[in-house]
Amino acid sequence: MRISVIGCGYLGAVHAAAMADLGHDVVGVDTDADKVAKLTAGEAPFFEPGLEELLGEGVRSGRLRFTTDIADAADAEVHFVAVGTPQLPGADGADLRFVDGAFDALAGVAAPGSLLVGKSTVPVGTAAELVARLRKAGSTALLAWNPEFLREGFAVADTLAPDRLVYGVDDERATELLDRVYADILERGTPRIVTDFATAELVKTAANAFLATKISFINAMAEIAEATGADVTTLADAIGHDARIGRRFLNAGIGFGGGCLPKDIRAFAARAEELGRAESVAFLRQVDAINLRRRERAVDVAIELLGGSVFERRIAVLGLTFKPDSDDTRDSPALDVAARLHGLGARVRATDPYGIDNARLRHPQLDYVASAREALRDADLALLVTEWREYRDLEPAAVAELMAVPRIVDARNVLDPSAWRAAGFAYRGLGRS
Ligand code: UGA
Repeated sequence: MRISVIGCGYLGAVHAAAMADLGHDVVGVDTDADKVAKLTAGEAPFFEPGLEELLGEGVRSGRLRFTTDIADAADAEVHFVAVGTPQLPGADGADLRFVDGAFDALAGVAAPGSLLVGKSTVPVGTAAELVARLRKAGSTALLAWNPEFLREGFAVADTLAPDRLVYGVDDERATELLDRVYADILERGTPRIVTDFATAELVKTAANAFLATKISFINAMAEIAEATGADVTTLADAIGHDARIGRRFLNAGIGFGGGCLPKDIRAFAARAEELGRAESVAFLRQVDAINLRRRERAVDVAIELLGGSVFERRIAVLGLTFKPDSDDTRDSPALDVAARLHGLGARVRATDPYGIDNARLRHPQLDYVASAREALRDADLALLVTEWREYRDLEPAAVAELMAVPRIVDARNVLDPSAWRAAGFAYRGLGRS
């Protein structure tokens, strides 16, 4: 099929490459000329495992191209909109200006009977408003909402082998077109849920709200564990054996960040208020508050380990991205902790395998070094804040050799406390006795 993807960020670039991999003829559209130039050369504009290979194959096959001109998308049968919906400046709601802009532009170029598919995460009610907007602009194109559940770091696999497909539609022709787009994926027995716009929009919002709640639940237990001497990791293992609860997304630490969960729960709470249902999701305010308290807690533990102050102390911060296998530092708890320590007068040396460039744009005041070795040399304290494999695999004895004094805060609870203590470390996890 002929497909266009509007917006080539983390979501759109992966979606475009995946659609070409499924055999479709794809044009990706983005207003950022540098990004388009990179993508055209088969280069990923951000770090995502497996993406560059997929892009390269797509571009070489001739089935994948990129442009800044939306008119180049005019002959597509299906247009996917994958632009960002960031948090509004100074408010909790979602900023829909890129979504509105993309649909306005498509209204001018999309062929009659073609299908416009929203993939961006939007407040419930947006699709219905967009239909009205399209009709007002004289477009007869069909609309569908087809939320995306990909995780950064696993984006390629999640797009090519999703655990479900959700279509929000108001016309059977939309379902038929989406079934053709996803034919290969559906053939493998992937569950497909066909529903109305509002439900499809809410499925995405609810999924992210649930995941955020699960993480904040275990972090709330970490707070109780800290007050009682209990161990939150053992607690998570034990409750996780109950299949109704499950162990995944029960890792306590410095909490969630990134371009999705934090802004999505805030936008959900803001939308619920508009709907007169603020109390229904009032708990999300608590979820957010618990999450943000974890960053303070990590700083407090660092202060405790250093005997009451971090001022002028040398601190190695291992990790800057919001999670491993990504270069994304948006709302990153790791970067936030590094900046807070710097703000308290600590001599922070921070490192990350892929996140330094993005971190520097947000916090140019920090001292960034290329390797864990450099960060750890002569440090008074190490903080593991993003659980990259290479930091999980660090040898306690070798780290102790590098540091001035062997002290470590394992803010993701991924190290073996007994191994680190055996090597002479003052070890502290979060929510661990
Ligand atoms: C999240 C959802 O997981 C995806 O399903 C969704 O498609 C995506 O948002 C989106 O809306 O686009 P992502 O932001 O890539 O994906 O990250 P997650 O894997 O959900 O992790 C989010 C944060 O939670 C990270 O900072 C991670 O370190 C933290 N986390 C995760 C924990 O603190 N504990 C856990 O047990 C799991």
